[in-house]
Amino acid sequence: MSITIKSGADIDAMRVAGRLASEVLDYITPFVKPGVTTEELDKLCHDYMVNEQGCVPAPLNYAPGGHTPYPKSICTSINHQVCHGVPNDRPLKDGDIVNLDITVIKNGWHGDTSRMFIVGNGSIAAKRLCAFTYDAMWKGIAKVKPGARLGDIGHAIQTFAESNGFSVVREFCGHGIGLKFHEEPQVLHYGRPGTLEELKPGMIFTIEPMINAGKKDIKSLGDGWTIVTKDRSLSAQWEHTILVTETGYEVLTLSAGSPPIPDFILQAQA
Ligand code: MF3
Ligand code: CO
Ligand code: CO
Repeated sequence: MSITIKSGADIDAMRVAGRLASEVLDYITPFVKPGVTTEELDKLCHDYMVNEQGCVPAPLNYAPGGHTPYPKSICTSINHQVCHGVPNDRPLKDGDIVNLDITVIKNGWHGDTSRMFIVGNGSIAAKRLCAFTYDAMWKGIAKVKPGARLGDIGHAIQTFAESNGFSVVREFCGHGIGLKFHEEPQVLHYGRPGTLEELKPGMIFTIEPMINAGKKDIKSLGDGWTIVTKDRSLSAQWEHTILVTETGYEVLTLSAGSPPIPDFILQAQA
C-alpha cells in the first residue's frame, strides 16, 4: 500500500467533490440555531446532498473494520464531543458549540470538510477554542508543499495549539482521500519537523485537528462512534481537503460561505 498520486482528471473530480462538501456547510449554516435537533440538521443535509447535489453521503452505513455501520449522513459533535457525534433528537442549546462534518461522494470521489458553529451566544472560552482551532488547521495547511514532510504539518499544529494552552487529540488524524474515504497517509496533528512521508505533487489528504480546552485524553461512548474528552472539557475541530501542488497547496473544500482565510495566510501569499 502507498499514497496515490492523483492525475489531472482525478484532481478536477476532487475539486468538484470538495466544493460540494463545503456547499453543504454553506447550506446548513442558517439552520444551526438554538432549538434545532442534530437529527433535523442531518435530514436537511442528507436531502440536500442527495436531491440537490446528486451526491452520496459517505458516512451513511460507513463501516470500517470492526465498526458498527454509521447510522446517519453527517457527524455532529457537540461541546465535549471530539468527533463522530451521531445526530439525535436533542435540541441544540444557546451557547453550545457544534462541529458539522460533511463527506460527499460525487462520481466516486470524496470531499471531506468540517466547521465549528457557535449556537446563539457562545462563551468567550468557547469562541476562543473555535478560533484557535481554525488557525491551528491553517498553520498545518501552510506547511504543505513538495519536499515538506508530514511531520512538519503535525509539528506546526501542535506547537501552535500547545503554546496557547490547548491540547491535541492523538488517536484521530487526517487522511489521504480520493476514491476511498480514508486512504494513506495518516496525517497526525502532532509530531516532529523533518519526519515521516515527503509530500509530492498530486497527493490529496485532509488536515482536521481536534483540539481540547483541557487534557488530550479521550474515550468512546457506548454507541460505538461518539468520541468525547475524558475530562469533559470542550473540544473543537475544523477540516479541509488539501491538494499538494507543484509549488504549495490548493484547498479543495472552499466555497462562497467558507470562513475568511486567516491574515497570516494571506500575508504569506502577498
Ligand atoms: N468525516 C470524518 C473524517 O473526517 C469521518 C467520519 S466517519 C463516520 O474523517 F462514519 F463517522 F462518518
Ligand atoms: Co476526514
Ligand atoms: Co470529515
